[in-house]
Amino acid sequence: MMDEQIFPPARILGIESSCDETSAAVIANGREPLSIVTATQIEMHAQFGGVFPEVASRQHIKTVYGVIEQALQQAHMSLSDVDAIAVTLGPGLAGSLVVGVNAAKGLAVASGLPLVGVNHLEGHIYSAWLRPPEMADLPPAPQFPLLALLVSGGHTELNLITNHLEYQRLGGTLDDAAGEAFDKVARLLGLPYPGGPSIQEAAKNGNPRTFQFPRSMLEGTWNFSFSGLKTAVLRAVQNFKNDPENLPVNDLAASFQTAVVDVLVSKTLAAAKAYGAKEILLAGGVSANAALREGFRKHSPIKVNIPDLSYCTDNAAMIAAAGYFRFVAGHVSDLDVDVLPNLSLS
Ligand code: KG4
Ligand code: ZN
Repeated sequence: MMDEQIFPPARILGIESSCDETSAAVIANGREPLSIVTATQIEMHAQFGGVFPEVASRQHIKTVYGVIEQALQQAHMSLSDVDAIAVTLGPGLAGSLVVGVNAAKGLAVASGLPLVGVNHLEGHIYSAWLRPPEMADLPPAPQFPLLALLVSGGHTELNLITNHLEYQRLGGTLDDAAGEAFDKVARLLGLPYPGGPSIQEAAKNGNPRTFQFPRSMLEGTWNFSFSGLKTAVLRAVQNFKNDPENLPVNDLAASFQTAVVDVLVSKTLAAAKAYGAKEILLAGGVSANAALREGFRKHSPIKVNIPDLSYCTDNAAMIAAAGYFRFVAGHVSDLDVDVLPNLSLS
């Protein structure tokens, strides 16, 4: 446990470029943000309705050094003031990952600093214990064992975290990730990319009980499936094909969002109970969803750790945070380390 274990002080420069955000941050002791700079490409990809890998890679090349420079400047530091460079190795888009990893390697060679390769999903997990930018105090340290629900654009999985850096994967999605389902359903409803925030916005003005969409519980497993739900939304949309002006977008968005939240909350709470977890952790881009955050806060009998909104979607603060715990545990990468686009947590 963080409060009981003694961790040495260290300042980590983090670099993240796994998808469509180029980000750099300096974090002290795994939890204190000294600077965070993120260049988002969302507007560039919105015209394609999703992330266009080649465009993402080129844009990372253009921005990565400027973003790193700015993060050091905002922390009033030069490279000689940090103890290690942490960078996302995977999972993610190969062409995007390689830009951040090569930048990190170049800086590590030039400065002689150790290089720490980080799993992007582990970054999302450690985002929960970063001090939010507007707050004076650190959030309370985690209590293990902890049941983590990771929900992002590429992942939906339940992990039991038994200690720092120790994960036992209980199950995951058999088809779409939760964020992917939000993005695809948004497209069906004619809402802009990224789909998650668009659906959340539309759902505010909708009735979640208008459509009774299926909740796939996959009893007896800790797996998820969202393809049936997606198909049910598609069928509901098709029923309006002769009357598209009257498509009840807000009600469809609200009914879909409620179905996703019901499944995620109830399966996570059941797993937490089954494994005797002391706390729950919600992380990944979809953890920004207000209905999901509210669902957990309302129904969980045990403490729920949820990252500050500013840390939910991809950022380098979380990579520096996870990198710190790797670094102090002695996990330093070789300079010939390669990107791992399909890296898993456990
Ligand atoms: O973690 P993340 O930034 O990137 C990945 O590692 O995949 O997650 C991106 C995903 C997208 O699918 C996006 O639609 C979803 O997170 N997302 C949301 C919300 N904000 C972002 N989903 C639901 N509600 C939100 N408010
Ligand atoms: Zn992510």
